[in-house]
Amino acid sequence: MTAIFVLLGPPGAGKGTQAVRLAEALSIPHISTGDLFRANLAEGTELGKLAKQYMNEGQLVPDEVVLDMLFARVAEDDCRQGYLLDGFPRTVPQAEAFDARVKSQEGGAPAVSVVNLAVADEALLERLTGRLMCRSCGRIHHKSFSPPKQAGQCDDCGGELYQRDDDKLEVVQQRLDVYHQQTQPLVDYYSAQGTLTDLDGSRAPDEVFAELRRHALEGAGRE
Ligand code: AP5
Ligand code: MG
Repeated sequence: MTAIFVLLGPPGAGKGTQAVRLAEALSIPHISTGDLFRANLAEGTELGKLAKQYMNEGQLVPDEVVLDMLFARVAEDDCRQGYLLDGFPRTVPQAEAFDARVKSQEGGAPAVSVVNLAVADEALLERLTGRLMCRSCGRIHHKSFSPPKQAGQCDDCGGELYQRDDDKLEVVQQRLDVYHQQTQPLVDYYSAQGTLTDLDGSRAPDEVFAELRRHALEGAGRE
C-alpha cells in the first residue's frame, strides 16, 4: 500500500532540511513544490517565469497552477510506493483537491500522514535570512546554524552557495503573513481529519529528525 507523508510548517520550519533525510530513510521521492518551481525557473520555462512573479513577492502561486504541476509529478512511476510532500498543500482548496484525488485512486485510498513542524516566527526570520542554497545540488546550509566548511561553497558538491531571492527580509515578512492567513488553517483541517501530528521544530536538526523518523516508520508499519 502506498503511504503518503506531508510535511506542513511555516517558511523556514526545516521542511526541506528534514525532507531530504526522511525521504532517503523511507526510500521514497521527496517532492517540494518550491523546488519544482525553482527548477522550472532555472530552465527558463513559462511555468518558472509565471511562478517567479508570485514567489519574489512572497505570494502563493495560484492553486490551479500548483495542482496541475503536482498531480503530474505524483503520477510518475517512482511515486507508486509512496512519496513525501514538502510545501504542498498550502491552501485549503489545495488540500481538498488532493484529498479528492487520493480518495479516487485505483486500488484503494493510500494512508496520508501529516506532520506539522512548529517554530516561532522570530526564529524563522533568523533561519531564512541566513539560509544559503547550493546552486548545483540544492543542499541547504545556514550562515550560522550549518555553515559550509569553505565559505561560499557547498559541502556536498562544491557548488556555488547563494541566497534565495525570497529570503530578503521584506519578502520573508510577507511570506510569514501569507503563511498565517492561508496555510496555517491546514493545521485545523488535518487535525479534524485525525491525520495530523505536531512536532517541535525549534530543536536541533538531528533531534527533530530522530522524532520524525520514528513517527514516520511507525506510520509506515516498519517499526
Ligand atoms: P518553498 O520553497 O516551499 O518555501 P517555504 O515553504 O516558504 O519554505 P522554505 O523552503 O523557505 O523553508 P523550509 O521549511 O524548507 O526550511 P529549510 O529546511 O530550508 O516555497 C517558495 C515559494 O514557492 C512560496 O512562497 C510560493 O510562492 C511558491 N510555492 C511553493 N509551493 C506552493 C504551493 N503549494 N502553493 C502555492 N505556492 C507555492 O530551513 C531554513 C533554514 O533554517 C536553512 O538555512 C536551514 O539550514 C536552517 N534550519 C533548518 N532546520 C533547522 C534547525 N532545526 N535549527 C536551526 N536551523 C535550522
Ligand atoms: Mg524548503
